[in-house]
Amino acid sequence: MNHRMLEEAKARLKQSIMTYQQKPVGTVAAKEATPKEEQLNYGHCFIRDFFPSGLAFLMQGERGIVRNFLEFTLGLQSDKTGLKSGEGLFAEVRRTWQGKELQIDGIQLGEGLMPASFEVTSKQEIEPDFGQRAIGRVTPVDSGLWWIILLGAYEKACQIDNHPEEKIAHREEFQRGIKLILDICLSKRFDMTPTMLVPEASFMIDRRMAVYGHPLEIQALFHHALRSACDQLLIDEKYIKIREIDKRLSLLTKYIRERYWLDPKRLRAIYRYQTEEFGETALNKFNIYENSVPEWVLPWVDRKGGYLAGNLGVGWIDFRFFSQGNLLAIISDLATPEQAQMIMNLIEMQSSKLIGNMPMKLCYPALVNRDWESVTGCDPKNIPWSYHNGGSWPVLLWSLTAAAQKTKRVDVAKKAIQLAEKYLSDDQWPEYYDGEEGAIIGREARLYQTWTIAGYLVANYLIQNPNYLQLFTFDSLD
Ligand code: GLC
Repeated sequence: MNHRMLEEAKARLKQSIMTYQQKPVGTVAAKEATPKEEQLNYGHCFIRDFFPSGLAFLMQGERGIVRNFLEFTLGLQSDKTGLKSGEGLFAEVRRTWQGKELQIDGIQLGEGLMPASFEVTSKQEIEPDFGQRAIGRVTPVDSGLWWIILLGAYEKACQIDNHPEEKIAHREEFQRGIKLILDICLSKRFDMTPTMLVPEASFMIDRRMAVYGHPLEIQALFHHALRSACDQLLIDEKYIKIREIDKRLSLLTKYIRERYWLDPKRLRAIYRYQTEEFGETALNKFNIYENSVPEWVLPWVDRKGGYLAGNLGVGWIDFRFFSQGNLLAIISDLATPEQAQMIMNLIEMQSSKLIGNMPMKLCYPALVNRDWESVTGCDPKNIPWSYHNGGSWPVLLWSLTAAAQKTKRVDVAKKAIQLAEKYLSDDQWPEYYDGEEGAIIGREARLYQTWTIAGYLVANYLIQNPNYLQLFTFDSLD
């Protein structure tokens, strides 16, 4: 434990706080001393980026900013009938927000959608971004899911800290907000799987990277949010979704555990798959050709490793290892206990590749050459081993530590934290690192990136007090 670094991180997290009418409501994405016009939207508070900040605050006993954030962002949720009653910052935001037409180029936003980020201008105006301003006009599917999970963590913190009177989830506006998010996630689509169908770049990877369809990270967040919502929704006979949620949860869990799972046994089965099978009894449901299995996979998992594939669709298994999806799957019990151990085996066995000089790779391996060209559209920010395309993101320290604790493999996390401690502070807390080993500060990385700082704090707080894991995990079902 590096006390000097912890103190620095704590102070920097505090400096990143964003206020609305003098009340703390979030944290900016990066607190870099660059001119405003060069900051793009890094002066915004992103819902996904606030998640580790929120956890860090809860672990510091600072519940107020998290409650404010939850009320404030709930006020921004797309809601046609626009509930105005309600308390605190929710009501204040709804008053200000009133009259703002939530249409983008004439298209009404889906009810329940949460913004990717929001800004509070110097005139105290609230400017949410639902993707209408974001680079690439990407839809933030993950925001509402992170929001529900953070609400669950806040509620548990009130319980653990012995302040049950501060709980908010049962308030009318919160019940409505949760239901709207669930409705949009559970709505019928052109799809026949229990996984959630989403457009390209709808989560942390918010650029073109072939992560459309059914990407693992969204499925893991969906699973986590559904479980969390079950704890928070009041039993309401009128809301028949409770039964639907239970059913969806069990179908989703089974589906991911069986179909996304890759280990030596499963890989050998795929090598021997029959193809072009017609009819309900087909074993190779998505018509996967054995030639599509990349050569690196089997030796990479060796005998003891395994992981959940990045995506699955017609004729397509995305064999890339996506860290956040795999770690979240461990945290929320989407992976079975055995699968969770095998994912941790893989991370340990392949630590030179997945952790390298800085924990940890967002995905592995990088797309190169023609794949990079066609998949990313020649995106210069996502060149091989950079940014989303195989770059290393220190924010993942919190989820790595949580997954390590959940599987009782704490040494993996301790080693990773020590490694991060070697560089993070001297390197000014960058957003990401470049290179196969993650040895160089990312070419376009922001400095003093808040979720890098918060991720480091949460990882340390979890090691100091493993009980904090309860904030965002469940009693195991297996
Ligand atoms: C980049 C990342 C995204 C993050 C945002 C703010 O757009 O891809 O995941 O939320 O920066 O840090």
